[in-house]
Amino acid sequence: MTIKLEKQTINILKELKNKKTDLIVASEFANELNIDYIVLMSAINELKKNTLGDFKEEIINQILLNKEGKFYLKNGLPERQLLNILLKEDIKEITLQDFLKLSNFNKKLFYIGISYMKKNKWIAQSNASAGSKIFPIEEKYPETELEGFLMRFKTDTKVDYDKILEKEKEFFDLLNKRQLIKKEKKIQRKIYLTEKGKKISLSKIQELKQVSKLTSEMILSGSWKDCDLKPFDISKPGPLLQSGKIHPMINFINEIREIFLSMGFTEIRGPIVESAFFNFDALFQPQDHPARELHDTFYLNNPKESKLPQKSSIQAIRDTHENGGNSGSIGWGYNWDEDIAKKTLLRTHTTATTIRRLSEYYKNNEKPPIKVFSIDRVFRNEKVDKSHLAEFTQIEGIVIDENVTLCDLIGIISEFYKKMGFEKIITRPGFFPYTEPSMEISVYYDKLGEWLEMGGSGIFRPEVTYPWGIKNPTRVLAWGLGLERLAMLRFQRADIRDLYINPIKWLREESY
Ligand code: PHE
Repeated sequence: MTIKLEKQTINILKELKNKKTDLIVASEFANELNIDYIVLMSAINELKKNTLGDFKEEIINQILLNKEGKFYLKNGLPERQLLNILLKEDIKEITLQDFLKLSNFNKKLFYIGISYMKKNKWIAQSNASAGSKIFPIEEKYPETELEGFLMRFKTDTKVDYDKILEKEKEFFDLLNKRQLIKKEKKIQRKIYLTEKGKKISLSKIQELKQVSKLTSEMILSGSWKDCDLKPFDISKPGPLLQSGKIHPMINFINEIREIFLSMGFTEIRGPIVESAFFNFDALFQPQDHPARELHDTFYLNNPKESKLPQKSSIQAIRDTHENGGNSGSIGWGYNWDEDIAKKTLLRTHTTATTIRRLSEYYKNNEKPPIKVFSIDRVFRNEKVDKSHLAEFTQIEGIVIDENVTLCDLIGIISEFYKKMGFEKIITRPGFFPYTEPSMEISVYYDKLGEWLEMGGSGIFRPEVTYPWGIKNPTRVLAWGLGLERLAMLRFQRADIRDLYINPIKWLREESY
């Protein structure tokens, strides 16, 4: 039976037959033939199918310079750099202290350099009592064998360990000891011809005329009917395409955005630099509330003061804090200070943004229902660790409507998590100074078999809504959920910081 091969494969077979060695490194061979590695390997696979050739994989150890090593490759080893200083300044003798100062080297490196200068017999050291001095002792200082070995990395950034000659091993060991190199393992493919492949004469092989692409001309002329179509092997990996991509976190945020939009919500945004008024006071947080302390909140010096809303609104908030105002509450019973409310800060939650939205409702004479959400940055003076960031993102929202209840709130939040792929949520009583009742929300993460806390929610208290004219039976459902927590589950990250350090491998694999 005659063997049919593609033209490219026949050419490669011819080249392989000309080779003197049996095993040929695939990547080098592809370079030599000036073809793509993938093209070469698909030809080898075709040879393999016809039992003419094959390849095997070997692990090879490569050595390469680390950062420090690369620096010395460019600027010379410390001993050479120090010697150059001696020669340039034409120094006949100098104390070590003076030389250290002159060289501007760090102490450790300086003494390493000095010790190699002595080993190379470039300098000698006197033991005179007035302080030990060193002096150069040669006229010429040719490249040392170690330096020669280092120079190899100029042409080959990676050197195969197996290709290092026996007599060079000592220099390799030295560079290793001086911690200037690192080792890497690489899988290398070596290709070879089988006995059949070596023996077969090229005249016995016919060219396979297969078509891998149909063109419109072929279809129009009908010539496709006579074509031998190349079967598509979908089990073979194609070349990996790397292109600019959207960051996985942005995709994630867009997904959440889509869910709220699909549920009839509108997105709102608010300032990052907020007033204490909207961040705390409008939320009925007393002015001595511990969350306002510097260790939880980043206050700003510039701008120092923020503009507050109209006088009547300030008065309404003052009354609510001092005596409950018209909310039916007795308030906190202290003297409310406008200056404290004017302080500027980085918002500690996006509830400040939903309150701003609330403040417009009555002013603009709006009608319920109003459904808005925000996905935005907040800041807290937290110690950063694997589950805390000082800068993170909240998924916040409110619904202003008549006669809405806690059940509606649970419904909305469950629906959101369900759309994110979390079927089970649990709510527990919680406490926030601005909601009553308040609810904490956890989702069930089946991979861990655990409930994970996601955030807070509740119905805004009359003390929060009445100052803005929102009164029973109109109520406001509110929630603020952590985005990064959810992202950790989605991207299977154990450390929250991993989401923002942008490991390139993750970015390549994860985003689309
Ligand atoms: N603002 C709260 C937080 O940052 C969450 C929350 C929002 C709670 C709205 C109740 C209502 O933790």
